[in-house]
Amino acid sequence: MKKLVLLLSVIFAFSCGDNKKKEESTVAPIGASKVEEKAPAAASDDAIAEITIEGNDQMKFNKSELRVKAGQKVRLTLKHVGKMEKNVMGHNWVLLALGADMAAIGQAGAVAEETDYIPEEFKDQILVYTKMLGGGETDVIEFEAPEAGSYDFMCTFPGHYALMKGKLIVE
Ligand code: CO
Repeated sequence: MKKLVLLLSVIFAFSCGDNKKKEESTVAPIGASKVEEKAPAAASDDAIAEITIEGNDQMKFNKSELRVKAGQKVRLTLKHVGKMEKNVMGHNWVLLALGADMAAIGQAGAVAEETDYIPEEFKDQILVYTKMLGGGETDVIEFEAPEAGSYDFMCTFPGHYALMKGKLIVE
């Protein structure tokens, strides 16, 4: 009996020692490389405003307010994180000019299927827009932030702007 206990404790000691070594050798280098990777990315964020906004199958954007500086270059990524088809749960990101009539654009956009739900007759009130996306799709657009002000953004898929809207605050 004594021998068995001794044997077990020896095995236990060995396996513990092994685990510790493994942890030390894998954790340390990963932690070090992560820090190195993050440094240059943070530096480039100052020049260009990187914005990511998501639309989902619950007909919602994940952000209702975005902030940039006047004249700043903006790279906006719209991600449809849902699974539904574009013709059922389509999402785009449309930035309106100051003073634009969101309700009128929403109604006109709803029947503008041929132009991806961007109403041609309101193009003077629309600054920039992404493609209409279905589940799993992504679109990236770049533009220069307009003059300071509070701009509306919306999704022009039929019926969506009631929930899918927000403000781009340009400072
Ligand atoms: Co939508």
